[in-house]
Amino acid sequence: MNIFQVLFQTSIGKKAVMAVTGLIMVGFIIGHLVGNLQLFAPPEKINAYAHFLEGLGPGLWAIRAFLLLTLVLHVWMAIKLTLENKAARPQDYVSQQTLRATYASRTMRLSGFIVLAFLIYHLLHFTVRVEGFGTYPHTTLIDGTPVRDVHTMMVVGFQNIWISLFYIISVGLLSWHLNHGLVSMFQTVGFRSRTWSSFLTKASVLFSILYFLANAAIPGSVLAGVVKIQNPEVAGYVCPAKCAVCEAKNAKT
Ligand code: HEM
Repeated sequence: MNIFQVLFQTSIGKKAVMAVTGLIMVGFIIGHLVGNLQLFAPPEKINAYAHFLEGLGPGLWAIRAFLLLTLVLHVWMAIKLTLENKAARPQDYVSQQTLRATYASRTMRLSGFIVLAFLIYHLLHFTVRVEGFGTYPHTTLIDGTPVRDVHTMMVVGFQNIWISLFYIISVGLLSWHLNHGLVSMFQTVGFRSRTWSSFLTKASVLFSILYFLANAAIPGSVLAGVVKIQNPEVAGYVCPAKCAVCEAKNAKT
């Protein structure tokens, strides 16, 4: 058997592919969250960050292609393992343990597919910026250079309660998926001893809760009015100084 046959044809190989691709995606979502938390800083920060990413040009496309490949492999292996488990399963469940395992994998599959649907919406919303998806496609200036106004785009998007709720529920499901996924990953790579297993389970729960709270804080703080539109050119901007120019503009609208 060559390495590809081991990875894609044996059960342990497929689980290893799921573990490695899952870990790569965990790395991405942590980095993505850190980037997104810049929404709490002055708008120039997150706009400059988005501008920097865009400036990577072909490098950004290479990263996107690599992430897409990891996602495809992860989902493909999940489907293969599910179908094989179904085919190999004897008649009915006999023990509580089997029932519990089946419940966990069923919720993993369901949460996984809902997160996938969220991701498609999310890319249309913030990356492709399809009109009618609650997006804001305009630019702003940083030191005279036009850059995409990602700050306003996010605030405008999350001021819509339904979009915010959809994001919060989706990151909740992703966190649930992560929690179970991390535990399975540790089992695949061999951390099976009682002490390790209990520590890693607790660490996975803690990580998933923190991940959820940090993500939910983004739409949550826009809904709560903590993060506001800060571009004076955009409808909904509230001038903190109530200056004459803004007051005159507000009176007109
Ligand atoms: C509250 C949660 C989230 C917020 C506020 C958020 C925000 C954003 C924003 C603003 C962009 C566009 C960046 C730009 O145009 O420069 C983006 C892109 C993206 N997001 Fe998210 N995101 C969230 C959650 C997620 C999650 C959970 C995933 C993965 C499951 C994800 C995956 C992506 C991907 C793949 C891109 C495209 C990156 C690219 O190719 O340019 N995001 N996100």
